[in-house]
Order: sequence, then C-alpha cells, then structure tokens
Amino acid sequence: MVLKVSFSFVLIVLLSSTFSSAHPGLNWGGGGGGGGGSGGYGGDYFGLLPEFYQYSCPQANDIVMSALEKAILREPRMAASLLRLHFHDCFVQGCDASVLLDDSATIASEKRSNPNRNSIRGFEVIDEIKAKLEEECPQTVSCADILALTARGSTILSGGPDWEVPLGRRDSRTASISLSNRDIPPPNSTLQNLVNFFNRQGLDEVNLVALSGSHTIGVARCVSFRQRLYNQNEDNRPDETLERSYYYGLTSVCPRSGGDNIISPLDLRSPRKFDNSYFKLILGGKGLLNSDEVLLTGNGGRTTELVKSYAEDEGLFFNHFAKSMVKMGNISPLTGSNGEVRKNCRRIN
Ligand code: HEM
Ligand SMILES: *[C@@H]1O[C@H](CO)[C@@H](O)[C@H](O)[C@H]1NC(C)=O
Repeated sequence: MVLKVSFSFVLIVLLSSTFSSAHPGLNWGGGGGGGGGSGGYGGDYFGLLPEFYQYSCPQANDIVMSALEKAILREPRMAASLLRLHFHDCFVQGCDASVLLDDSATIASEKRSNPNRNSIRGFEVIDEIKAKLEEECPQTVSCADILALTARGSTILSGGPDWEVPLGRRDSRTASISLSNRDIPPPNSTLQNLVNFFNRQGLDEVNLVALSGSHTIGVARCVSFRQRLYNQNEDNRPDETLERSYYYGLTSVCPRSGGDNIISPLDLRSPRKFDNSYFKLILGGKGLLNSDEVLLTGNGGRTTELVKSYAEDEGLFFNHFAKSMVKMGNISPLTGSNGEVRKNCRRIN
C-alpha cells in the first residue's frame, strides 16, 4: 500500500507540472464513466491519461505509427483488422489485451471463440510493434495500450479522425473464451440485442451507431451474412431490406452452402477509406451485415436518425466516432498495480 501511494504521488507530481488549463476536465479518480474499472479515489484506480508515457516512452506512438504505415502498405486490410482487435479486446473483460493471449497451461485463448475463430487477425503486427517497444522502452508500454494506439493509428491512416488516446492500461493475466462468446454481438443481432450488448459495456446508442461506422473499412466472410441472403426469418427468403442488385452480387460470391470464408467488403464503395459512405450505403439497402441494416430499420427511432445524420454529415460522424472510441477504450482497464506489462503480448510474464 505504501508503495502504491508513493507511486501515485510521484506520478501526480510528475504530471501536474505539465498540466495547464488545457486539461480542464481531468478527473483523477473517476475513469470518465462507461463501465470503467473499480472507480473512485483511494483504490488502485488511477484513470487513464494521454500523457502516461510522456517521460517513460515518449516515442511510443511514433513506433506504433511507423510499423503501422509499413503493415498497411503491405496489406491495406490490416488497418481494419487492427481496429477491430481493440473492440474485441475491450468488450471482453475490459481493455486488457486478453484477446492477444495464446493458449497455454493457464489460458484458454479467446482467439478460439465463435466471434474470433477464422476471423480476427493482425497479431503479427502487434508482435512487431511490441518487439520494437521492448527494445526502446523495456517493460513499459502495455499490450492493451498498443491496441488502443493501433486502433487510432489505423483510423488516421485510412483517412479517418484523430483523437487523444488516454493511456496507462495494464495487461491481464487471464483470458476468457466464455466471455468472448457471450459479450461480442453476433452479426445477425436485432437492434435491441445490439443496444443491450453495448449498454452492458456502458455504451449508448450514439456509441453503437458511431462505432458501427468502423465497418467503413474491412471485410466480412460469407458465413457472417449468409442468413440474410437465403433464410432471413427461418422462411427460406432473403432479407427484403437488401437492395436488389446488391443482393444478386452477394449471392454470386456467397453460396447457400460452402464458401464460408469467402470475403466481401463491408463498404463496397470505398473499402479502404475511412469515410461516411458506410452510412450512405445503409440508406440504400447496401449494408453488408444484418447488424448494419438494423441500425436504420430496426425500429430504433434514435439509431435511424443517427444513421441519416452521419450519412449527411461526415464531420459529425468523425466527432462522435472519436468520442466513442475513447469511451470504448475506457471499459474496465487494469491500472495502478493491477495486471502487468507483458513482455510478449501472446503470453503472461
Ligand atoms: C455493432 C456490433 C458489431 C457487430 C455485430 C460486428 C460484427 C462484425 C462481423 C461479423 C465482422 C466480419 C467478421 C468475419 O466475417 O470474419 C466484422 C468486421 C469488422 N468489424 Fe465489426 N461488428 C460490430 C461492431 C464493431 C465495432 C464497435 C468495431 C470497431 C470499433 C468494429 C470493427 C470492425 C472492422 C474494422 C471489421 C473488418 C475487419 C477486417 O477486415 O479484418 N465492429 N464486424
Ligand atoms: C443467429 O445465428 C445463430 C447461429 O446461426 C442462430 O442460432 C440464431 O437463431 C440467429 N439469430 C437470429 C435472430 O436470427
């Protein structure tokens, strides 16, 4: 306890000299809402801070960005895959890099869960970034923070918004395949399901619609949207909200059976560009996943209006997206002396 108190004291002294009126909203104990941690003053909850590595590893974000640039040049889809990793990390026992752990004697890897299996990717890029960070700032930058910085970097490099990333997350010593199966929404979710999944994480409808806008980049497999093409309501009929020519195009790449892993772009207009065309496509019946479509037609009122607003106003989408990413990144982080800073993101120390 003495150690914790003196550590937090040193941290406050170090950082307070750099704070000015530019940071009026600083909230030491609170963690800024949204399902955040143990909360309150006095525990080991410090809250996250953009300046967390200012002295211990000032070059952290530069290292992330230069590795990202290369990885995305090599394979443009990587931006999308890495953005998604942060989501699948945060929704499962908080933003603690649990998603990165491989199977071991004590770990049942989340990589094997239904939403993740044959689907999430980008681990080699995270390994590369971690290796470089360990060279320059040994045992300093957590894997959970790497995921948060990587999600922002991928967004920026795809043409999307920038935001300040609160940092100081620590890495879990556990993973949960059962929570991964339970807490990540499936693509055939109804709107009410989606709202419930997000509410459970302290996220609201604005966050749901804005963050779904991530589907402006990347791809989905046939198995993730087949139900819409052939059997939307257990009736052997397609989802009638699908625009006709889009529907025919999809049936030609995604057969009734087989071909589970054939991929289609989530945003067929501009699959590599982070823009608001995802929302425009939804308005035209060309959203790929059921979970995309129901934001418009799922009788939400609020979400319908948001889809329309984002389709009209890219600036509003970017603004809400950035705020929602910060909120998602704040889901139950491990801070203070909880968890650890892994040396290798795939295994506990
Ligand atoms: C609202 C609920 C959501 C559902 C139901 C959902 C579902 C899916 C599914 C099924 C895929 C395709 C996976 C595959 O077929 O292999 C996908 C891809 C993707 N998702 Fe989501 N997602 C949701 C929210 C989010 C959020 C919040 C983010 C990020 C903040 C995100 C980012 C992405 C990205 C970037 C891809 C493309 C990945 C790639 O190309 O590798 N999604 N999502
Ligand atoms: C979603 O798909 C799963 C697995 O195929 C199925 O069991 C479930 O009934 C589907 N849910 C809806 C709402 O169609």
